[in-house]
Amino acid sequence: MKVVSERDIEGLRAIGQVVARTLREMSRAIAPGITTIELDRIGAAALKRQGAVSAPRCVYRFPGDTCISVNEEAAHGIPGERVLAPGDVVNIDVSAELEGYFGDTGATFVVPPDNALKRRLLATAEEALAMAMQAARAGARLNGIGHAIETTAENAGFTTLRDLGSHGVGRSLHEEPRFIPNYHDPVDKRRLQDGQVITIEPFVSTGSFGCRTAPDGWTLISGPGNLSAQFEHTLVIRAGEPLVMTLP
Ligand code: CO
Ligand code: CO
Repeated sequence: MKVVSERDIEGLRAIGQVVARTLREMSRAIAPGITTIELDRIGAAALKRQGAVSAPRCVYRFPGDTCISVNEEAAHGIPGERVLAPGDVVNIDVSAELEGYFGDTGATFVVPPDNALKRRLLATAEEALAMAMQAARAGARLNGIGHAIETTAENAGFTTLRDLGSHGVGRSLHEEPRFIPNYHDPVDKRRLQDGQVITIEPFVSTGSFGCRTAPDGWTLISGPGNLSAQFEHTLVIRAGEPLVMTLP
């Protein structure tokens, strides 16, 4: 969507805060021994308490209120009986709707203890998000986002998952532009517009370039032994720095 009124900003900020708070509550419960369904129940309760509805569940009938992806799982992991173990890399993605507006955020954590590789993977994905936000300006090429993400990942010796990307958001979970690549596409001539609402969500991997869908029909799995990290914000494009709706 494109923001046309102060009301739009307020609606997006309200749901942005809801998903950010929900993600933070869930992340505080990450510990060895907790199952991903237990984490999801914390998220479900937080969304309900704030009057919001899970977007994956209501838009796609996803079998969970949030997506929780562990280690080789890159995205869209179904909450279940998987027990978190020390050293696991856990991505939580929270998206929801409140009064007709959608927000989408995500972050990646390591169940203690971490190690140098995992720390660097997470830091690189966070830096890729920051660099992409620097490139996201009204009038700029959309492919500047992928360029910033790919360059940041490559400089750290990592890859990006090319079949996952950022997207338009606001009045639904996924809107035009439906796919903003995690890599530089030189033939993509699209430009960012003032007021446009998008997510930016780099997926950085230790060595994979893509995913396959698990037999459950949802979970996206990267190459054997690979780890990935994603950080995501919902933001409004402007002439200057984007307005980030999902900062807690
Ligand atoms: Co998301
Ligand atoms: Co998203």
